[in-house]
Amino acid sequence: MRRSCLVLVILVALLPAWAQAPAPYARRLDVPQLTALGRAIFFDAELSPSGEVSCASCHDPKHAYGPPDADALRRGFRAAPSLRYLNSLPPFSEHHFDNDGDDSTDLGPTGGHTWDGRVSSAREQARLPLLSPEEMGGPSVPAVVARLRLTPYAAQLESLFGAKIFDRPEAAFEAALLALEVFQQSPSDFYPFSSRFDAVLRGRATLTAQEARGLVLFDDPAKGNCASCHLSTIRPDGAFPLFTDFGHIAIGVPRNTAIQANADPRFFDLGLCGPLRTDLADHAEYCGRFRTPTLRNIALRQRFFHNAAIRTLEDAVRFYARRDTDPARWYGAAGKFDDLPAKYHANVNIEAPFGGRPGGAPALSESEIAEVVAFLKTLTDADQR
Ligand code: HEC
Ligand code: HEC
Repeated sequence: MRRSCLVLVILVALLPAWAQAPAPYARRLDVPQLTALGRAIFFDAELSPSGEVSCASCHDPKHAYGPPDADALRRGFRAAPSLRYLNSLPPFSEHHFDNDGDDSTDLGPTGGHTWDGRVSSAREQARLPLLSPEEMGGPSVPAVVARLRLTPYAAQLESLFGAKIFDRPEAAFEAALLALEVFQQSPSDFYPFSSRFDAVLRGRATLTAQEARGLVLFDDPAKGNCASCHLSTIRPDGAFPLFTDFGHIAIGVPRNTAIQANADPRFFDLGLCGPLRTDLADHAEYCGRFRTPTLRNIALRQRFFHNAAIRTLEDAVRFYARRDTDPARWYGAAGKFDDLPAKYHANVNIEAPFGGRPGGAPALSESEIAEVVAFLKTLTDADQR
């Protein structure tokens, strides 16, 4: 049922693009076949001019479709995210209301694809790497389509989208993007809900004492308070938690000097207010905000946060506990929030677990940090272990 709805939605969304398509075309859209085609495209390095880069180079299925190694940035200034658990990502909105909760609370900017929410769909997102010189480097739509035409799955594209599809490069390119999007909706690949914690939620497993203490700290508003943004409980509609509310928040992550663009001290990645998105550039109150990522499969990452500044999961959790009590540890001589111009420092979140004075007691002790980390390790999907 859900799958046929999806096809309908996709068909409607694509109607303008297919207005000139041959009539029998719509009947041929078939989710399993599109998924197979999208999978082939996702792993095909031949689509890049170097013959070396595919979507999977940065979104590795053995790392929950996140970066396979410590080079999460490649040549860019943002870490490649995991592509898992984006299945109910809402479209970007500046004013988000959670229907399952108190309708009167405006939760602020929420949703949208990428760290700054600027991309409206997985289909639009795929266009960027396919054409970006920093990523897969296809110089133009016709150039990428010329490569598609030579692939072993070119015949599949023709049988799904019409024998003449390659005569219309923009339509062929759109067809490839559609296949990639449908592939990314495949539940077993992208939202298996197969972690040990999911088994606990189903009543089929139990947490160890250390993991259970970690979960309590994760949820406790006076301790980790993590669950206030990284939602951890089953929703009223029965949906399992995604460990994100998709809200855009500034937490003041330290500057990563390994980023080439950061060699220029005037360069700042300000997330919602630019530079990659430009529509909210005049919203000073949004500068420094990035979309809250899922923490599912977080133990598979080697770099953390939008700029990959933090190198271990322990340190990622420790950053929350000690950002304000031990700022020198994170920012050195540069001082607090060194990746954000001073005029935006007031945008940074200061609620628990943040807060406290330098030298004061952190929100989580070292053993409590270890407990939270132990809990986070239960969020790794079964096929990744
Ligand atoms: C060179 C590395 C690289 C390659 C290759 C790459 N991506 Fe990405 N991907 C990224 C980065 C970095 C981001 C985050 C971009 C941002 O926030 O501005 C991203 C973001 C995404 C997102 C948004 C995820 C979210 O959390 O909203 C999707 C979907 C995606 N990529 C799909 C793809 C597909 C499909 C391909 C192949 C056509 C691909 N990517 C190729 C690095 C890569
Ligand atoms: C106020 C909302 C909020 C709270 C509370 C919060 N987080 Fe986050 N979390 C975020 C946002 C936003 C990001 C991305 C920030 C960025 O990259 O600039 C993030 C990123 C992360 C990351 C890195 C994820 C990745 O893919 O790189 C980890 C790990 C994490 N949080 C764990 C925690 C833990 C553990 C706690 C509790 C101790 C916590 N968070 C509390 C909003 C929050």
